[in-house]
Amino acid sequence: MGKTFYVTTPIYYVNDVPHIGHAYTTIAADVLARYKRMAGYDCFFLTGTDEHGQKVEKAARESGETPQELADRVVERFKGLWKRLNISNDDFIRTTQERHKRAVLALYQRAWEKGDIYLGEYEGWYCVPCESFWTETQLEEGRRCPSCGRPTERVKEPSYFFRMSRYQERLLRHLESNPDFVQPPSRYNEILNFVRGGLRDLSISRTGFRWGIPLPNDPEHVLYVWFDALTNYITAVGFPDDRERFERYWPADCHIIGKDILRFHAVYWPTFLMSADLPLPRRVFAHGWWTVEGKKMSKSAGNVVDPYQVTDEFGVDPFRYFLLREVPFGLDGDFSRSALVHRINGDLANDLGNLASRVLAMTKRYFGGRVPPSHDLMDGQVRSQAERSLKELDRHISDLAFQQALTSIWDLVDLLNKYLDETAPWGLAKDEGKRRELEAVLYNCLEALRLLAIMLSPFMPSAAQRLWEMLGFDSKVEEARIEEVGRWGLLPEGQQTQPPSPLFPRVEDKG
Ligand code: ME8
Ligand code: MG
Repeated sequence: MGKTFYVTTPIYYVNDVPHIGHAYTTIAADVLARYKRMAGYDCFFLTGTDEHGQKVEKAARESGETPQELADRVVERFKGLWKRLNISNDDFIRTTQERHKRAVLALYQRAWEKGDIYLGEYEGWYCVPCESFWTETQLEEGRRCPSCGRPTERVKEPSYFFRMSRYQERLLRHLESNPDFVQPPSRYNEILNFVRGGLRDLSISRTGFRWGIPLPNDPEHVLYVWFDALTNYITAVGFPDDRERFERYWPADCHIIGKDILRFHAVYWPTFLMSADLPLPRRVFAHGWWTVEGKKMSKSAGNVVDPYQVTDEFGVDPFRYFLLREVPFGLDGDFSRSALVHRINGDLANDLGNLASRVLAMTKRYFGGRVPPSHDLMDGQVRSQAERSLKELDRHISDLAFQQALTSIWDLVDLLNKYLDETAPWGLAKDEGKRRELEAVLYNCLEALRLLAIMLSPFMPSAAQRLWEMLGFDSKVEEARIEEVGRWGLLPEGQQTQPPSPLFPRVEDKG
């Protein structure tokens, strides 16, 4: 049985349309999944939508639809965006699917049998117009509703609780012996401190709205969102019916999430799984937050970045590249038009695009477009940098250090640009006696471009494929296996390349 790799994104709420934040997490997970496939893993990549809960119920009422109609409509925006962004997810889960309800009830049943669920009373601050409960810390000044700003009132309602407190010690021990369980390290410390501070039991049901999964033992109650939502990660790999599949993929190798939902994934979720005697995910990685032109993104500020719009204007690959290149994964970042334009014109059009065009144009001019023989000549520095980049790429991607992975790739791009300037093939071409050197230099550049197409494929699948085809291959680079193709010297001599066409058009800087 081959090695498996299971990576997930959060499942996104359907009461909002997708924006750059959702795109970010999903693109990061896609790069990881694409790389792992090329590295020979049987990879399972999951994304989906979170469709239950009060917020969806309320949004549906406002738009005059049933909650299911609203979900059915908005889910298409997500699916359509993932298609456009070249997301290679293997499944798409919706929490309103029958398979998911079965999984949630099975998980609930296990907790119930453990004696981890009991009826208690939930106390919170309630906003009547918003029909929402808030905790003390969520309230604005004067105990006002953080959503509408009106005063809230103290309300009690019956609720089922999950005995999270029971698992505090076990979770603490797990954290202490698995310092990689939560990443990056600053987030790990945050969770460690939180758990050390003590875990309280968790309210997991509500009676104030209907749009959710009713409790089998007390159908007046529906499950509160997180117990329902988190279960998606095991639903999709066959829990509880398909044992073989479940054991193949679970535990997940990596849950990629934003820092806003870290506690649910690094505290609640592990305790639910412990209660059900299921293994814990191997890693939870919480990335940072995007602001837009220096400001917090919000509907009321009207500055929400629509990925459909950005990719219409700048293209999908540059958008994917920018998000992962601009900011170290794990830190906050700022999305600005000028930064995006700068990256496209500099890194993509200039450094990489021009390099490919020059090399292919010279191949055409001097060799009729055929790959010249290598003679194993003058390849020292290019070859060793290519090998170094390949090796670093593997380590950085496994660490979700996407920015560093791209930096390692660009080390090779930069070196090649220098190599071209130093060896000056246009000069060698003037001297019949330098023919072997000319052949070697262009072979080395073409071979390095081949390895670049492979390394870039997880990040920019379309551009990498075009480069691959320009080098004369008719296969799919994303289907290549690094073990087989990720070695120096495999570009076949005599292969017919194509005339260059620009990989990345320059864009105008409107300031
Ligand atoms: O929380 N910067 O769904 P959600 C970076 N349904 N990432 C951002 C972002 C920003 N400004 N805004 C959103 C939910 N995100 C639950 C999850 S999981 C079992 C249930 C991304 O639609 C980031 O990944 O509010 C964040 O965690 C996620 O969108 C929240 O999406
Ligand atoms: Mg949110």
